[in-house]
Amino acid sequence: MVPLSASKILSTYAARTPSSARLQLRAIESFPSGVTHLGRYLQPHPLFVRRACGSRKWDADGHEYVDYFGGHGALLLGHNHPAVVEAVARQMERGVHYGASHEIELEWAELIRKMIPCAGRVRFTISGTEATLLALRVARAYTGKTKVLRFAAHFHGWHDQVAFGAEIPAGILNELAASVVLCEPHDIAQVRQQCHSRDDIAAVILEPTGATFGQVPCNRQFLADLREVTARRGIVLIFDEVITGFRCSPGGAQAYYGIAPDLATLAKIVAGGYPGAALVGRSDILGVLEYRDSGPSLQGPRVPHQGTYNAGPVSAAAGVATLRVIRDTDIVARACATGERLRQEMNAVCRRLGAPWCVYGECSGFHIFPGSAAPDDIYAGRVPWKKLKGATPLELLQKIRVGFLCGGVDIIGWPGGVISGVHGGEDVDRTATAFEDLLRMLREEGDLD
Ligand SMILES: Cc1ncc(COP(=O)(O)O)c(C=O)c1O
Repeated sequence: MVPLSASKILSTYAARTPSSARLQLRAIESFPSGVTHLGRYLQPHPLFVRRACGSRKWDADGHEYVDYFGGHGALLLGHNHPAVVEAVARQMERGVHYGASHEIELEWAELIRKMIPCAGRVRFTISGTEATLLALRVARAYTGKTKVLRFAAHFHGWHDQVAFGAEIPAGILNELAASVVLCEPHDIAQVRQQCHSRDDIAAVILEPTGATFGQVPCNRQFLADLREVTARRGIVLIFDEVITGFRCSPGGAQAYYGIAPDLATLAKIVAGGYPGAALVGRSDILGVLEYRDSGPSLQGPRVPHQGTYNAGPVSAAAGVATLRVIRDTDIVARACATGERLRQEMNAVCRRLGAPWCVYGECSGFHIFPGSAAPDDIYAGRVPWKKLKGATPLELLQKIRVGFLCGGVDIIGWPGGVISGVHGGEDVDRTATAFEDLLRMLREEGDLD
């Protein structure tokens, strides 16, 4: 394998993007590693983007890219959908923060309650991380129990209770880690054993498609078994639908699989690309967030929850506009159909070049597996999860992203991406060409076989 310092892929990218290189010299003065999110880090420098529209975006040197980063998954409608732009512009004129209740938050919550099966009540937060933090606290308060069961490789944001796996990163307290029961992904026997042998588990939280939007896929049967065991033991089942909400179907993964959790966390699409998220779920469980006024004196909620920007009117307006498009059109189905076509075309490229890699995924997502397997092997559980997630060397992941950028395509570093309802045939064709060029370059550098 050619090291990054000598890679032709990286030098081609560097020659193409001199403005990004210059901006990175400034960025490194202000930001650790010159970036504001670790997923945006790239060698020799990250891409600086100046504008975006539909399925495309343009960098500081004017190059155009098919965008599969999709606002980290928030932009199911693509960049600058006219309905969202209009709603946001109108709201900006009417005020961006009232410090009071308002009608747009009502409409936002009512849409969510109609679309998401488990959403009896709603509490808005700003980010997915806040929503999963609140979900766990609410579940503990409701059950009076202390532990949370979650699965290795599943992502729930960066707060202390969810930001570690087998190894505990610096800064996270060992005492806190002890409150988490960490299971192997989708091992129902292990879950059953834990849930039946102890009485201190408040909640089970998971990504319902499997880790990282199905990079480590799980299946409906696993979800059904999980639903059954948690219901039997009085454990709160939480679907983290931060990515899957309104993407797998207008009713999220819970409608797609036909299994309703007790609580769900929503972010990204729910606020149409603006800051906003929500904890939704059973009314009795969200009752722990309520003031108690039945006795002689008014008492505060059992779980106090604040947040300066909760249900901000601009995010609410963007959310309402986005959810209406999802409710009233076939945009989710179109994104899923393009996803299917993209995965097929990319797999055809692998076959044409005799590359052992494959591309897989469900709905409007794709994952590139830079190893030796077919999608059927992955879905049949024949590829260990540690190979699917976390095994690819960082150097190869960097080359894959940078190589795609050289071909005018921006992917997420999983490696994979999310597809919007405005991606189309031309985007797919351009992506297949960029993928073919990338595989040829990787083969030259000894990274493919
Ligand atoms: C499944 C899942 N949960 C939680 C989060 C955290 O959301 P946020 O980045 O809004 O804090 C993410 C973010 O990508 C996610 O994919």
